[in-house]
Amino acid sequence: MAAKKATVHIDGMEPFELPIFEGTNGTDVIDVRALGKQCYFTYDPGFLATASCDSKIIFIDGGKGILLHRGYPIDQLAIKSNYLELCYLLLEGELPSKEAAEAFDSVITRHTMIYQKVHRFFEAFQHDAHPMAMLCGTVGAMSSFYHQDLDISDPAQRKRSAYRLIAKLPTLSAMAYKYSIGQPFVYPKNELSYAENFLHMMFSVPAEEYIVSPIVAKAMDRIFMLHADHEQNASTSTVRIAGSSGANPYACIAAGIASLWGPAHGGANEACLEMLQEIGTADRVDEFVAKAKDKSDPFRLMGFGHRVYKNHDPRATVMRQTCHEVLSELNIKDPLLDVAMALEKVALEDPYFIEKKLYPNVDFYSGIILKAIGIPLNMFTVVFAMSRTVGWIAHWDEMLSQEGHKISRPRQLYTGESHRDFVPQDER
Ligand code: SDX
Repeated sequence: MAAKKATVHIDGMEPFELPIFEGTNGTDVIDVRALGKQCYFTYDPGFLATASCDSKIIFIDGGKGILLHRGYPIDQLAIKSNYLELCYLLLEGELPSKEAAEAFDSVITRHTMIYQKVHRFFEAFQHDAHPMAMLCGTVGAMSSFYHQDLDISDPAQRKRSAYRLIAKLPTLSAMAYKYSIGQPFVYPKNELSYAENFLHMMFSVPAEEYIVSPIVAKAMDRIFMLHADHEQNASTSTVRIAGSSGANPYACIAAGIASLWGPAHGGANEACLEMLQEIGTADRVDEFVAKAKDKSDPFRLMGFGHRVYKNHDPRATVMRQTCHEVLSELNIKDPLLDVAMALEKVALEDPYFIEKKLYPNVDFYSGIILKAIGIPLNMFTVVFAMSRTVGWIAHWDEMLSQEGHKISRPRQLYTGESHRDFVPQDER
């Protein structure tokens, strides 16, 4: 129901009204769908002021640094819950009872294996292929295995696809890592938790069992939770647009993985750690902050800034706390943390960053934690993709469950040539 109306006055036209809708929280929206009939489009490159859908999954108040997952604050979930319980919440909309949680964990656990033939997909990759390239390729190829469950109009088949993707992403991610270091693939073990299983598949070798540290497993699970979902970000919007054409869920998630890979998005955690390594020592921080402020220099401080958060990113706050916990519990003294703390202090006191509201984002501390628990740099964005798969598939499922959802097909402002007739080559 429209709460208020916007009246549009266009020169030479009668004023007309557009309905304004209010959400549960947050910014109201002007419904511009009728503009097309008035022969106008809205113009918003990068979608800075565009709501592409209505959703019940995530709420972000960037000005106040608020992030809710189905209404629950991320900092409460990250400290008190676990990743599979958060997956259930994102998919079903409610926290599970003890029985429902046990049943969900059991279903996910029993979907962690993949068809043996997928092993041969990896053998086609160069050994130095980036694990994200291997993940993107093998996830897309999964659609060649599950023909019997690709009727996306059937909620039960959509749910089974969601379970398979949540369960198999860690297996495929660990396989990408094992292939890149020339070690044999490790099968999942049903007696392990989600995070323990991923670490087992990453670091066990036939010669000896990898004993999963509870500290590392807890940190891994928290990293998964903090990256699980985040409203209509670039990769989630990519999954929604791919899904709006009726593409199968595995192809849609592969599209999300491709979009997340960019350094402006999920690739920032890898880029942030590389930046901290390049800075090297706290006394060089000022030099890099100056580069970031220099308009003629394309350098940006990776791990800083956010399209939505113009206050702190609540995930970064939990990540910072987790970073200190993990390093002290593992008794690791990482000089990169000193560099990160020095960079954070300088940047947050610098007028440029204050004026542009550039705060540490989710990627700023995650790289230090991932390095501390032994995840190699080229696997950082793979971990982000694994974690975000539940968010992507929850949005995909929500879109397909909405009555009257349409294929996404934006228009444009055309600035090219007006009509002109073809000229034969010998007359040009
Ligand atoms: C993620 O959308 C999501 O929700 C994403 C994410 C999720 O969970 O899905 O939260 C995950 O992608 C986090 C962001 C990770 N990316 C980085 O850390 C890369 C570094 N940050 C930026 O490139 C940038 O801040 C973005 C891409 C994150 C946001 O860019 P915007 O909102 O489009 O803003 P902008 O590029 O227009 O920047 C606004 C101003 C510009 O200066 P002016 O042109 O106004 O003079 O701020 C400056 C920029 O130059 N600026 C930076 C900066 N980020 C923005 N200057 C220096 N260092 C930076 N990091």
